[in-house]
Amino acid sequence: MAELRVGLGDRSYPIHIEPGCLDRVGAELSKSRIGNRYAVVSDSNVAKLYGERLLNILDSAGISARMFTFVAGEENKTMATVTDLASQLARAGYDRHDAIIALGGGVTGDIAGFLASAYMRGIPFIQIPTTLLSQVDSSVGGKTGVDLPEGKNLVGAFYQPRAVYIDTEVLQTLDDQELLGGLAEVIKYGVIWDEGFFMFLEKERERIFSLAPEVIVDMITRCCAIKAEVVAEDEREGGLRKILNYGHTIGHAVEGASSFQLIHGLAVSIGMVAAARLSILKGTLAQDVLDRITSILISYGMPTEIPGDLDRAEIKRYLKTDKKAVSGKVQFVLPDKIGSTYITDDVSVDLIDQVLN
Ligand code: GLY
Repeated sequence: MAELRVGLGDRSYPIHIEPGCLDRVGAELSKSRIGNRYAVVSDSNVAKLYGERLLNILDSAGISARMFTFVAGEENKTMATVTDLASQLARAGYDRHDAIIALGGGVTGDIAGFLASAYMRGIPFIQIPTTLLSQVDSSVGGKTGVDLPEGKNLVGAFYQPRAVYIDTEVLQTLDDQELLGGLAEVIKYGVIWDEGFFMFLEKERERIFSLAPEVIVDMITRCCAIKAEVVAEDEREGGLRKILNYGHTIGHAVEGASSFQLIHGLAVSIGMVAAARLSILKGTLAQDVLDRITSILISYGMPTEIPGDLDRAEIKRYLKTDKKAVSGKVQFVLPDKIGSTYITDDVSVDLIDQVLN
């Protein structure tokens, strides 16, 4: 089993990565005693797949737990869902000595983490991510929250879990699109931080797609190690953590302009190429590096071009409302080689137009 730590002083926590580690959660929690009772929060899809299994595992370890579900879908990542779950917890008598387990993908982790940050002014929570995207990204680092009609993730909190359990076997039930979406974020780590990891991804594509256990564990461990290092240095995204947004600035705008028909990871793939092109135009990236980034994404079956039918003006409107803008200036994360990026708001409208068109 791989075990990492996110180093945040007295809020540090372990990340366990192992095929089948779901089965060990009961034994682990009976040792660590994070909560007296557990509320397992899951969506209607994941609850059906793994809910009962987790409750049985906890029960066998003598741990009291109940399931609390919400209807699957990003459209339910709302305050209303959090309020409803909080009421259910209150009616079931959960108190501040109890804890929450987030069992599911990014939406579940965001909702359950935010619920944990606010219920009884904060109770502990544990992440058991079940999608590749949540295993390599959202379950680590403590970003929690919900969407508003005015935009995604507009209400939330930085609230770190007490532990993350990543069972790589659950990826077997992921559909191809979800796997691909997660892989875009995996490739992102290679571009922003680690050329050796980028080369591993260039070499191991086939074994990654066949979900070869040892390669998948290596891959997820490397992503979580990078994320843990970045978060430990800059938990609240004052500086370094912004590099995790590589591909997300234009990516989010493209995702929005497609009315969310393009899934997040695939929009990020397009955004990574667009950001690399901006870097070329600024004279800070060599053409062969852009070619390498484009080639790996194409080899994984990901889109690299903004779909021709997307309204460019709409993409620019989304860019202007990017919530990570500082004083109205959009911040771009641009690669300058494989394994290295820089952050700049010095990107003219003319350069953006060239990349969008
Ligand atoms: N997903 C980017 C971050 O956690 O900062």
